[in-house]
Amino acid sequence: MAGLRGALIGCGFFAVNQMQGWREIEGASIVAICDRDAERLRIVGDQFGIARRYSDAAAMFANETLDFVDIATTAPSHRALVEMAAAQRVPAICQKPFAPTLADAKAMVKACADADVPLMVHENFRWQSPIQAVRAVLDSGEIGTPFFGRISFRSAYDVFSGQPYLATGKRFIIEDLGIHILDIGRFLLGDASTITTRTTRVNPAIAGEDVATMLMDHASGATSVVDCSYATKLAVEPFPETLIEIDGSDGTIRLAQGYKLTVTGKSGTAVSDVSPPLLSWASRPWHNIQESVVAIQQHWVDCLATGKEPATSGADNLKTFALVEAAYAGAASHEPVHLDALLK
Ligand SMILES: NC(=O)c1ccc[n+]([C@@H]2O[C@H](COP(=O)([O-])OP(=O)(O)OC[C@H]3O[C@@H](n4cnc5c(N)ncnc54)[C@H](O)[C@@H]3O)[C@@H](O)[C@H]2O)c1
Repeated sequence: MAGLRGALIGCGFFAVNQMQGWREIEGASIVAICDRDAERLRIVGDQFGIARRYSDAAAMFANETLDFVDIATTAPSHRALVEMAAAQRVPAICQKPFAPTLADAKAMVKACADADVPLMVHENFRWQSPIQAVRAVLDSGEIGTPFFGRISFRSAYDVFSGQPYLATGKRFIIEDLGIHILDIGRFLLGDASTITTRTTRVNPAIAGEDVATMLMDHASGATSVVDCSYATKLAVEPFPETLIEIDGSDGTIRLAQGYKLTVTGKSGTAVSDVSPPLLSWASRPWHNIQESVVAIQQHWVDCLATGKEPATSGADNLKTFALVEAAYAGAASHEPVHLDALLK
């Protein structure tokens, strides 16, 4: 197989989507995989026909000649693995959440910058085609200058059966899901200067918060509300759709359930269906996320080819990750939290 030679570390629940995604990408393929769990290594290796298998990432780096590594483990291992990639001068993709703490994330960005190694966080939600469609409307100028946004993810979908670790952490919805929705807020309305947060836990069977409401002041002057819930029982379950409202000086954008996009602007009102395609290997309702995996992986390969910094580079993602830290701090203190100090 021609093109870039990649390796995947972490063969768990979500990595299967990443492996499927790599099959779709021209110019790159996965030549080796690693997991410390022998059963997961076997399952993914057999499913994708990968013969070169490792239980230890250091052994894999020592034995393989790689153009990039795709880290699909959970956060506790991210720093060590990214630093290992930097030491080997292997460009790295790291799953979200970037790291256990902002200090770790900053150290990872520094390690890669010092080694002159590209680093991208697999922050894929902004790559969903409905979200890209909203961005395109903003770029067209149709609604003028945005002054308000609401980015909303409310669901009662059982995420715990596929990802049991989500039920046990002291932090849940902001760290796991809100991180994506906050990133969409940054993607659409620009960086935030302040965040104010309220959280609660409705589901008594889990350890962390499952409802979060966040108010962001953006540097542009716009205000947004980012609201997330895994305790919202609706007539039609919207998982995993992010719903969006943006008001601008010349009109509005509404991305409603069912991937219905309504734009009212300088040229009147237009309604369109921005449903993501159902890729051959994808399954509803995950197809929206699955398509975004392909899009971000293609972006990575394009960036490696051109030397461009990925949109969700490690440096960029520090600003999303700082929002997560600030949201937890603000939820505890009930005070607004300024981002400047955290990002120094
Ligand atoms: N971007 C998205 O849309 C999305 C969706 C779901 C999960 N995720 C993220 O993906 C990551 C993985 O989640 P998951 O649900 O697949 O977890 P998982 O627990 O199912 O899989 C993680 C795998 O990594 C392996 N692993 C952990 N540390 C390792 C190490 N040091 N060396 C080798 N293998 C190691 C584990 O054995 C496990 O098989 C998480 O950070 C999660 O937040 C992202």
